[in-house]
Amino acid sequence: MNSQEQTLYYRLGGAEVLRQVVESMYDRILTDPLLKGFFEGVDMDKQRKMQSEFLAAALGGPEKYGGLDLAYAHSGKGITTVHLTAFVGHLLDVLEERGVDENDIQGVISRINTYANDITGASTSDG
Ligand code: HEM
Repeated sequence: MNSQEQTLYYRLGGAEVLRQVVESMYDRILTDPLLKGFFEGVDMDKQRKMQSEFLAAALGGPEKYGGLDLAYAHSGKGITTVHLTAFVGHLLDVLEERGVDENDIQGVISRINTYANDITGASTSDG
């Protein structure tokens, strides 16, 4: 239920903490040989901002995500489950490093995983 998700957003520390988490996450992603190539030429200030906004909204915060539809933003990039797993792994590492409670980490990861098919295009059937 929604109040559960809001509790998660606030338990993590709200917008400022999520901003820091996203910052550290992309620091790692941009040094990961498997992932960094996807972000070549991407405006990373904007990327961090959109991702922070997206995560805040997805975890039940008051923010409204005003960016592109996720399936549209990731289509045609060749992103596979292997890339997605590595990407989410960096998020997990950052949360663990910050000492976030294990249940809350699982809560974040399972929420993020609901978007997996949008990212990899697994659920689309292009004609
Ligand atoms: C569940 C995991 C993910 C979430 C929640 C997510 C979220 C987002 C968001 C919110 C944007 C911004 C869209 C906009 O500009 O309006 C974005 C863009 C982007 N994402 Fe992801 N993403 C995820 C996984 C990945 C993965 C695994 C990759 C590649 C390995 C990736 C590569 C990109 C790239 C390259 C862009 C920039 C597109 C551009 O500006 O040209 N994302 N993502």
